[in-house]
Amino acid sequence: MIRENIVPFEAGTIKSSNEYLFLKKFEENMDLFKKAYEFCEDEDFLHEMKEVSGENQVQNNSWHIFPLYSNRNLDFYIDYLSEKLSVDVRRIIEVLRSNLPDTYEFLDEVIEENGIINLWFSRLKAQSTIKCHINNDPFQYRGHIGLQVPKGNVCLKVKDSIVRWREDRFFVFDTTEPHMAWNLTDEDRVVMSVDFFREPRQEMMRLHEERIRNKIKNTPLGFEGGYLALDPKLVDRFNNVIEEVSY
Ligand SMILES: [Fe+2]
Repeated sequence: MIRENIVPFEAGTIKSSNEYLFLKKFEENMDLFKKAYEFCEDEDFLHEMKEVSGENQVQNNSWHIFPLYSNRNLDFYIDYLSEKLSVDVRRIIEVLRSNLPDTYEFLDEVIEENGIINLWFSRLKAQSTIKCHINNDPFQYRGHIGLQVPKGNVCLKVKDSIVRWREDRFFVFDTTEPHMAWNLTDEDRVVMSVDFFREPRQEMMRLHEERIRNKIKNTPLGFEGGYLALDPKLVDRFNNVIEEVSY
């Protein structure tokens, strides 16, 4: 029987936010983002990721996301998103800015300087799983902080490490490693996800733009999982682990 234990952020593949000063700034200002999430939820902005449920990566109607900032708001990506979703994304950004001025004032100060690529809310419904996959984005790291983390079996596994989200601290992981998330509680889990460039910054910015131009040709909304490219034994091992976590 596979038995897995939750590890502290510092102990495994999933890192603490300690070496990323800008994530500390976010941690000190999470009230702004709690308010932003409530606004997005009230306005029913969260988008169901039907695009990945088709790949059996996630159950129907179980994973919803909403970006406050997406692919550096690159013009060609905003055009693509507007067309794909049949909404005026620039207008939505204006609505967000006028309703959440403090949040955007903070974001305007940190985004460029710290090489932030994406910032989005991710809601995983009760009793749902995002199965094992990898993302083809070697230009970035991803930070997660909890906004609503129910008690119980709700975790992220990356390679050989399992953590629970915390509402006061980010952890950071490499999305090119196999990873999966699950929420086997009876309440929704909400996290804020922040992607930022690795070094060297200029080279990573070029790589990002090149990859996004390709991704939007072949993948829904520019999202890409590497699920099918993974060794099936590894996928099985990941997907069987959920019930066995001790915490
Ligand atoms: Fe992922």
